[in-house]
Amino acid sequence: MNDTSSYRTASVHARDGVAARPRELCPPELCIVVPVLNEAGNIARLVDRLDAVLDGIAWEVMFVDDDSTDGTRAAVAAIGARDKRVRLLHRIGRRGLASAFIEGAQASLAPTIAAMDGDLQHDEAVLPRMFAVLRDEGYELAIGSRYVGGGGVGDWDRRRAGMSNFATRLSRIVLRAPVTDPMSGFFMIRRDTFERAVRNLSAMGFKILLDILASLPTPPRLVELPYEFRNRTAGESKLDAGVLRDFVMLIADKLVGHIVPVRFLLFAGVGALGIAGHLVVLRLCLTPLALDFPTAQAIATACAIVGNFVLNNIFTFRENRLRGWGFVRGLLTFTAICSVGAVGNVGVAAFLFGPAVHSTWWLAGLAGAVMSLVWNYAVSSVITWRRT
Ligand code: GDD
Ligand code: MN
Repeated sequence: MNDTSSYRTASVHARDGVAARPRELCPPELCIVVPVLNEAGNIARLVDRLDAVLDGIAWEVMFVDDDSTDGTRAAVAAIGARDKRVRLLHRIGRRGLASAFIEGAQASLAPTIAAMDGDLQHDEAVLPRMFAVLRDEGYELAIGSRYVGGGGVGDWDRRRAGMSNFATRLSRIVLRAPVTDPMSGFFMIRRDTFERAVRNLSAMGFKILLDILASLPTPPRLVELPYEFRNRTAGESKLDAGVLRDFVMLIADKLVGHIVPVRFLLFAGVGALGIAGHLVVLRLCLTPLALDFPTAQAIATACAIVGNFVLNNIFTFRENRLRGWGFVRGLLTFTAICSVGAVGNVGVAAFLFGPAVHSTWWLAGLAGAVMSLVWNYAVSSVITWRRT
């Protein structure tokens, strides 16, 4: 790769009496943001390919690394030492493709931003077309689509294809523009368009394009360009069970996030499951096991607390999931917090039901329960699952 070749061919005009500037002072016109997590084996090849296809465009590439452990940063640094177009944003204690893209875009000044995977699955040959349609044809957003004529998904198995299909349908609920491939992680956007969406972004999980499309106050002028999703040759996919949960969270956040935090809804849903579980265990302890009521109720309560803790640890606070000793410590703090919540619950309900207010039994009961729910959520999210 030869260091500044692209800058030499970049268009630098003397405009409105402003003298042409030395080319090495010219900022990039295009920033390709590439979120990477353990992609050491793909970095050099990706930069070579960008260099090959982006001739004539002043570009830079921003690798956003979430503390990879496989030498990804060293691979970026090795190239960046010879080529200032190659940049790195290293995040610690953070995760997520969507937030990585947002922060990478914000760390650049380029007026055009592209999102691209770091594993060579996106076809870089489409980038010059994307750039051209934004610059010359008045489009604000160019999307690499697997579902328009000429595009494709490579050799995905039926399960993966089915999941993608299902997610695409579900996403229609929040979409404000007709797009065949809203789940694409490969697109290019004008910075001013991105800026119109950036304050409304949910920044959850993998689906940054969907997030942008659902966050723009008005539909952007967009075009979809076909590409064939390639197979991975080095490194591993980071897609896991959490991606589905993140996706549902994103959709829910777009629908009701402005009214109530989605994480709180999840916490409340887990709580409702806990009540159901409590009743089942209570019944089993009473009838088949023939325990006395206080013992049965104590066992059911313990099961409900442990069950809630485990589910919240897996779903509600997935990003801060506790393991090992952290898990044990978390269970203890969670139990303590819920106990205080229960005392408060009874106190509030008794006060409302009592002579001072004279509320009906169910309203008093509900108020107590909601109070403890809010308490449990607020306190456990800062103590039990606090961000490290
Ligand atoms: N910084 C950072 N943080 N990068 C991440 C993270 C993260 O938490 N998770 C994944 N990445 C990087 C990977 O290193 C890779 O460069 C890129 O994001 C995509 O991750 P993959 O694990 O390869 O995802 P995929 O191939 O299953 O999904 C891709 O295709 C989907 C279309 O079906 C992604 O591009 C999705 O955005 C896209 O929707
Ligand atoms: Mn991939």
